[in-house]
Amino acid sequence: MSDKKEKFSAIKGMNDILPADAPLWELFENTAESVLKSYGYQKIVTPIIEETGLFARAIGAVTDIVEKEMYSFEDSMNGDQLTLRPEGTAGVVRAVVEHNMAYDGPKRLWYKGPMFRHERPQRGRYRQFFQFGAEAIGFAGPDIDAELIMLCRRLWDDLGLDNIRLELNSIGNAEERQRHRADLIAYFEANEAVLDAEAKRRLHANPLRILDTKNPAMQDMVNKAPQLLSYLGGESLAHFEGLKKILDANNVQYTVNPRLVRGLDYYNRTVFEWVTDELGAQGTVCAGGRYDPLIETFGGKPTPGIGFAMGIERLIELMKGQGEPAAPSQCDVYMVHQGEEAQMKAFILAERIRDAGLDVVLHCATPQGAGSFKSQMKKADGSGAAFAVIIGEDEVKNDVVAVKSLRGAEGAAQQASVAFDEAVDYIVDQVIGGGDCGPDCDEHHHHH
Ligand code: HAM
Repeated sequence: MSDKKEKFSAIKGMNDILPADAPLWELFENTAESVLKSYGYQKIVTPIIEETGLFARAIGAVTDIVEKEMYSFEDSMNGDQLTLRPEGTAGVVRAVVEHNMAYDGPKRLWYKGPMFRHERPQRGRYRQFFQFGAEAIGFAGPDIDAELIMLCRRLWDDLGLDNIRLELNSIGNAEERQRHRADLIAYFEANEAVLDAEAKRRLHANPLRILDTKNPAMQDMVNKAPQLLSYLGGESLAHFEGLKKILDANNVQYTVNPRLVRGLDYYNRTVFEWVTDELGAQGTVCAGGRYDPLIETFGGKPTPGIGFAMGIERLIELMKGQGEPAAPSQCDVYMVHQGEEAQMKAFILAERIRDAGLDVVLHCATPQGAGSFKSQMKKADGSGAAFAVIIGEDEVKNDVVAVKSLRGAEGAAQQASVAFDEAVDYIVDQVIGGGDCGPDCDEHHHHH
């Protein structure tokens, strides 16, 4: 009989975020949250699972997402038809209507979390991925469109990302798209010989999506197709011009891409994508647009809406390309000890130092034992701590601890012997006054 145990791996297309990457994720999320906050956006959290019908209604039945990418299942307990959310807008809009959130005026909302799409995994495209999104509910004019776009620009600036460009389009309202659609279908029918199977299938259901084709054999034909932009009426045009005017006045660079149509059906008027060339085929790091008719389709009072979502994995990869992030430090203080009495004192002192607001890692035994002083000091060095606190037999006998600087200047006096009861004050002084941190050092911002 073999005693080899089965090993599990994560579901294909679903990633672990390991501690080495966690500081970068934290940096992204903290920066994004503070930018959203600086524009007055408030956090909303909705469930990861919703009724399947919600997504079909919001995103559209003839879309890639609803047709073939949703993780849908029947709840075996009660037969409910459920889906792991493929995106965040549907759930937020459901919550806004369910809680009548827009009754006392418009709302600016943001959210973050995992989304699920059964796509073919590749670089930048996963089956579980994280989005950071914003939705502004109840605002009608192009000013909010500009605000959302400028908020993204501020985030790229704050993250030091200078390789993301903005593509913009307006897809008008339902009647304008209807007139365009009729002409588009006629045009595609006249060019039927060039259409591939996918395009033929979509011809009557969703002809706009044919414009999005990646098939090189269709590019020329698609380039000459009637453009939705030239079907826009006065109000849609005025909205689009109004948006461009605010962006111009604020020095926001963009290109109008008349073929930008987006893969979800709820959009009208403004659509936009932030794109980079540094990530290969999956270069869209943020995408969104206006969805004025959506709330009414959910039984709410007619209420305009607009939002965007960013793919966090893609932005993390861009951030990695900007240079190595500093190695994360686990703690301020690493406690080294030898002998049972020393261990007891180390526990007590570690708690006191934490009470004072510092981060402390106390050396603990592994299956090989507690380890020698030397091996414990190696761990202390590797922890990134500024100080090691050492308690051995001598220290116990004399009721002192040794405090050793791990990052002090070369050759400086680096070790002090301090009375046990004065150790906390001494260490706090050393860490906060710490000489090796410049004026920009914010490593210890959490200390009170
Ligand atoms: P979306 O274009 O489907 O829009 O997704 C937004 C962003 O999520 C994409 O630009 C990309 O960065 C990221 N993303 C999408 N799918 C994947 C994937 N399989 N793997 C990794 N990243 C991915 C929406 O989701 C809309 N809810 C955006 C929105 C909000 N529109 C209005 N409000």
